Amino acid sequence: MIVLLIVLRILHVLGGVFWVGAALAMNLFINPSLRATAEAGQKVTAHLITQTKFAAALIVSSATTVLAGTWLYWIDSNGFSYGWMNTATGIVFGVGGLFAFVGWGTGFVLSNTGAAMGKLAGQIRGAPTPDQQAQLAVLGRRQVNFSTINLASLTIATVLMAMARFL
Ligand code: HEM
Repeated sequence: MIVLLIVLRILHVLGGVFWVGAALAMNLFINPSLRATAEAGQKVTAHLITQTKFAAALIVSSATTVLAGTWLYWIDSNGFSYGWMNTATGIVFGVGGLFAFVGWGTGFVLSNTGAAMGKLAGQIRGAPTPDQQAQLAVLGRRQVNFSTINLASLTIATVLMAMARFL
């Protein structure tokens, strides 16, 4: 059992480091830079989405974090039994997990939005047409709105995970 716990914790923490780190860097620095640099940004977006494994790496790391976390929660709570889940530690790990699920869901919306932007950016030759500009604006607004929820929920989840054991 101790080996399983160690393996799950390593997968959970490694997955979380990559997932949350990448989400913070994308939301805070990379996406705003891509939006601000017009044609150059569109080329980088198209390359990042269609030519690299970035989206796949985010799917694998986030799924690993969530699955290993749910498994750890199941072990710690002795099969989701009420006793441990009702302690301060159990509640805070549980609420942290729920915030992580919100981060997961909004991450999928962001990844679909990024894919749509990458596809659109790949179709633009020279300056975007008015129709392409309008589509880029809609996608850009969606990216900003969901980024805010994604950033907030992943940050709260990480803070709660860091505190839970000591409560
Ligand atoms: C944003 C995503 C997440 C991050 C960054 C994260 C991070 C962490 C970290 C750093 C720890 C170690 C804390 C310690 O040992 O004191 C931990 C433990 C834990 N996490 Fe998460 N976590 C995330 C999502 C989840 C989810 C979705 C669940 C599911 C409910 C979960 C359940 C747990 C549990 C039960 C533990 C305690 C494991 C043990 O017994 O040692 N986590 N998490």
